[in-house]
Amino acid sequence: MATMRDQLRELKSLAGPFEPFDLDAAPSTPTVLFQSWLTAAIAAGLREPHAMTLSTVDADGNPDARVLILKDIDARGWHFAISRGSPKGRQIAHHPQVALTFYWQALGRQVRIRGRAVDLGPAAAAADFLARVPEARAATLLARQSDVMESAGALEEGLERQAQRIAEAPAIVAPDWAVYVVEAGEVEFWQGDENRHHLRLLYRRAGDAWSRARLWP
Ligand SMILES: Cc1cc2nc3c(=O)[nH]c(=O)nc-3n(C[C@H](O)[C@H](O)[C@H](O)COP(=O)(O)O)c2cc1C
Repeated sequence: MATMRDQLRELKSLAGPFEPFDLDAAPSTPTVLFQSWLTAAIAAGLREPHAMTLSTVDADGNPDARVLILKDIDARGWHFAISRGSPKGRQIAHHPQVALTFYWQALGRQVRIRGRAVDLGPAAAAADFLARVPEARAATLLARQSDVMESAGALEEGLERQAQRIAEAPAIVAPDWAVYVVEAGEVEFWQGDENRHHLRLLYRRAGDAWSRARLWP
């Protein structure tokens, strides 16, 4: 019986071939390059290409991380939507510097973003909230995310109560809901290579412009 270590050793990683990454042709801003990589991930039919890991730190300086959905990407940055009262929301309120990580396995691509999460305010929150399915809205209206659950019955009962509120007032918006944009200071594009000649391009904000540097693999 192979040990877990043996099984892990046997697993392939970064088995290409992958698309070439032309560093010289990279655009001057990372959001433009990100959009083209995301478009490629969507076109390749990857599942959940918009799933990303959001890393935060808590009030004691301890790191935390979880997967979220990317809601938009524009010239300002990367958008996500969460409850302000959740652990991650409280962590961002205390320390708005965050990191986002994308991994598109079939393309051998990783993108790492470091920056500041900025709350886009009530209008953006309401528009995002009302575009969500009623079940998701009901769960958010409960405002209990990541609390310890006393009983599954309490969850069902709470969801039913919130579904009823939505049925009575379809335009209701959870006061806790927020859309954030991550305004990046650094963005790194990592293109894996099966021969381990990985290509890495780091964008660093320099005032209104971006510097670009190639990193050792
Ligand atoms: C694929 C995927 C997408 C998710 N998208 C979101 C999201 O957009 N917003 C969100 O608040 N939680 C999302 N979650 C749940 C979070 O990972 C997390 O469990 C939850 O937000 C509680 O995190 P916290 O305790 O750190 O606040 C998603 C989970 C997965 C696996």
